[in-house]
Amino acid sequence: MGKNVMVTGAGRAYALGYNLVLRYLEAGDTVIATVRKKSDDLEKLKEQYGSRLIILTMDLLDTASVNAAAEELAGKTDHLDLLINNAVGVSPDCDKGFFEADLDLIARTVDIIAVGTMRVIKAFYGLLHNCPGTSLIMNISSEAGSISRCYRTAQIDYGMGKAALNMATMNIWNTIKDEKKVNIFAVHPGWIRTDGREDNPAPLSSYEAAGILKDLFEKRACDFEGHRFITNEGEDYPF
Ligand SMILES: NC(=O)c1ccc[n+]([C@@H]2O[C@H](COP(=O)([O-])OP(=O)(O)OC[C@H]3O[C@@H](n4cnc5c(N)ncnc54)[C@H](OP(=O)(O)O)[C@@H]3O)[C@@H](O)[C@H]2O)c1
Repeated sequence: MGKNVMVTGAGRAYALGYNLVLRYLEAGDTVIATVRKKSDDLEKLKEQYGSRLIILTMDLLDTASVNAAAEELAGKTDHLDLLINNAVGVSPDCDKGFFEADLDLIARTVDIIAVGTMRVIKAFYGLLHNCPGTSLIMNISSEAGSISRCYRTAQIDYGMGKAALNMATMNIWNTIKDEKKVNIFAVHPGWIRTDGREDNPAPLSSYEAAGILKDLFEKRACDFEGHRFITNEGEDYPF
């Protein structure tokens, strides 16, 4: 039987979230794709896949909108097998260094990436817990969120957001691990042409990356022993 898979931030056809949605739809699963505003790309996919694609609108910065989306979904399905927290947003100063960047823009990025993901996990946890077997939360993190491997002097808000997401992953893991009912990881998804530009030197298209991640998620779904921060190649990555 097909799984119920939810992907946040899935509205852009060239980016990772949409391609994860596509991969799971192609595999016969039911997919819940979340957006913060209407997406023509997803609407086209809906014409093709009908009731197997559920589109929810929510803003990760707004707890009430996340909770309302969870309530809406609970009226349509009784459980989730997999939640992929993919949505991301950065400040306009992301590429500036410490002395140039407006530091007051950082908190919003951390709010979207880390706190927003926690809002989603909390709101949808009941549906994950209702899964007949074990369910899985995959937080799309980044090597940029590793403190021990940090080499950057820019992307401060992004790195801080992903480091905070990694911390959230560990904190939630500590909270839920003993029950072995809902599993959770932070994953670096690889270097991907998520802007859809052909001159982007990243080796993976969003569609290729989504396929690799889908296989990885299947392999690690019931791994309650391993390190919690892994790469798309299944290797442990240092926090
Ligand atoms: N590209 C890489 O090489 C690479 C490397 C490491 C990690 N990653 C991670 O991979 C994931 C996907 O990357 P991407 O470039 O494909 O992402 P993206 O397209 O930049 O963002 C994904 C979606 O997040 C949504 N979003 C932004 N703010 C939101 C909010 N407040 N509430 C709800 N949704 C919101 C955006 O919605 P709108 O469409 O409405 O703006 C967007 O469609 C990200 O987590 C990224 O950090 C990518």
